[in-house]
Amino acid sequence: MLVLGIESSCDETSVAIIKDGREVLSNIILSQDEHTKFGGVVPEVASRTHLKTIVPIYEEALEKAGVTLSDIDLIAATMGPGLVGPLLVGLTFAKGIAYAHSIPFVGVNHMEGHLSANYITHRDIDERHLSLIVSGGHTMLLEVKSFGEYEMLGNTRDDAAGEAYDKVAKIMGLGYPGGAALDKLANQGDPTYMKFPRAMLHDKSYMFSYSGLKTAVSMHIKSLTAEEFQKNIANIASSFQEAAIEVLVEKTLRAAKEKQINHITLAGGVAANSRIRSMFAERIRGNQKLFYPPISLCTDNAAMIATAGYYRYKKDGASELIVNAVPYLKMV
Ligand SMILES: Nc1ncnc2c1ncn2[C@@H]1O[C@H](COP(=O)(O)OP(=O)(O)OP(=O)(O)O)[C@@H](O)[C@H]1O
Ligand SMILES: [Mg+2]
Repeated sequence: MLVLGIESSCDETSVAIIKDGREVLSNIILSQDEHTKFGGVVPEVASRTHLKTIVPIYEEALEKAGVTLSDIDLIAATMGPGLVGPLLVGLTFAKGIAYAHSIPFVGVNHMEGHLSANYITHRDIDERHLSLIVSGGHTMLLEVKSFGEYEMLGNTRDDAAGEAYDKVAKIMGLGYPGGAALDKLANQGDPTYMKFPRAMLHDKSYMFSYSGLKTAVSMHIKSLTAEEFQKNIANIASSFQEAAIEVLVEKTLRAAKEKQINHITLAGGVAANSRIRSMFAERIRGNQKLFYPPISLCTDNAAMIATAGYYRYKKDGASELIVNAVPYLKMV
């Protein structure tokens, strides 16, 4: 079954063709760089850029996969959560071609898309598993009972983990979005330079909080001279990263133990982080097994949307063409 997936929830315009939910025939991703100079995504600029780029990207995705629209069995597009203008561009385009060519359509939850990126590359994930989804807008620890059946164990009280990375990177002058640059810099520093707070680490819940850590890093930087800051920039990045990641790893492993779940999947942009991968690898025990997507499938892409659409369609059938964009669409 060939699925054409479309992602436009934020500042990536992406179209992919996936075979049977597993094989990536094409996955074209355009990351809009129009927002860099503003230090964050400008929704109206994002919508207009999606409008300009979606047709050429769609054509490129078909061409690269070596197929035509008549070969496509299902069209899947992100319907939320995300920015309403950007969402509407991809969703309306998807519904338009589905209607014009009588192809079934399915609306996809972007976060279910992130989770599904793991199904593209891994075939041996237990149906019941834990998933830690850490992205620019979300921090969620889910018990996946089966595809589409989730229990939310915890999320964030304030900032998302990726948002904390981006804010700290901005304070440190690493540009926007700065998560990947901060990760790279952190690898050159000393994680024991400063013990930044591990918020809610010993709290019995699976909730997270990142605004205090961001403030602690900001206050520390303000207490330094420009020279001291430059000398310790990698150490600050490394100490921030250790604090940010330790809470994610420890709480997930505690949930795995308490719920007796051995398989853990990571998803979302922060799953691309080098330390989250290495710290989990250091701390998992016994039969526990960790899965994560390749870096290119961690941040926003349409391959994950096509795969989520494939499984959604198999579970519930097609969506009505009247489905609308839902900016705060929930996962559970
Ligand atoms: N190596 C890395 N280390 C830490 N953070 C990273 C890394 N690579 C990317 N990120 C962060 O991942 C986030 C982007 O991920 P993603 O595309 O999943 O988020 P989003 O789509 O903006 O948010 P959401 O999926 O919640 O709607 C950014 O915050 C970015 O800084
Ligand atoms: Mg995302």
